[in-house]
Amino acid sequence: MHGVIFQSVRDYLVAEHGRSVTHAVFDGEPEYLLSEAYPDAALIRLIGAAAAAAERDVEEIVHGLGVYTAETTFSRLYPAFFDQTPTPRAFLPTVEEHIHELIRATIPRAGPPRLAIAPLGENGVRIQYSSPRRLCVLLRGLTEGTARRYGQRAQLDEARVHAPGRRGLQLRRDLQRGRDALSRRSSPTRRVMPSAS
Ligand code: HEM
Repeated sequence: MHGVIFQSVRDYLVAEHGRSVTHAVFDGEPEYLLSEAYPDAALIRLIGAAAAAAERDVEEIVHGLGVYTAETTFSRLYPAFFDQTPTPRAFLPTVEEHIHELIRATIPRAGPPRLAIAPLGENGVRIQYSSPRRLCVLLRGLTEGTARRYGQRAQLDEARVHAPGRRGLQLRRDLQRGRDALSRRSSPTRRVMPSAS
């Protein structure tokens, strides 16, 4: 996983769970660089440690990480991506082709998920998510964080469940070991209806 996600874990913990939790999780860890990608197992370890140190469910940590990553980390590091579009409904369909594709080209060891995002109805978007990691809870958080970046809230309406892939199951098992279930329901298709807060 791309180093930006690891940096976001650290910043999220400082912002939402305080410095002592952050120290408990990151003391002894290497420096995670934006120019590198690291094994998924390292992220799993950090999330498990964060859930234990903050005394929260893994699912809560992963969702909070997603919200923080979109609203704060990506917004700070890549403001131009967001500024080019006036609403989350206009921004979200650009993520796959413009952003994740760029990540795949610049950091070959990073593997962002395949997202198919298209407008739905008058205000919504339909997100089809496919990743062996099955980080549906992170996806939910990233979507909410994106809406917040634009001063809106996302209303998520989950649909279909995809068949478990072996790696995805492994990731889930590893995360569950951290504290609780990452995602009891893995639901790749979402309807998102932004609404002004
Ligand atoms: C400026 C905005 C964004 C940037 C720069 C960005 C970049 C990235 C990067 C670098 C990763 C790590 C990939 C890896 O190392 O494998 C990632 C993962 C991910 N991104 Fe994005 N992303 C953005 C917006 C979004 C949005 C809005 C969504 C959802 C609607 C999203 C969904 C995901 C998910 C679910 C993952 C987790 C990896 C997985 O499931 O396999 N991203 N993104």
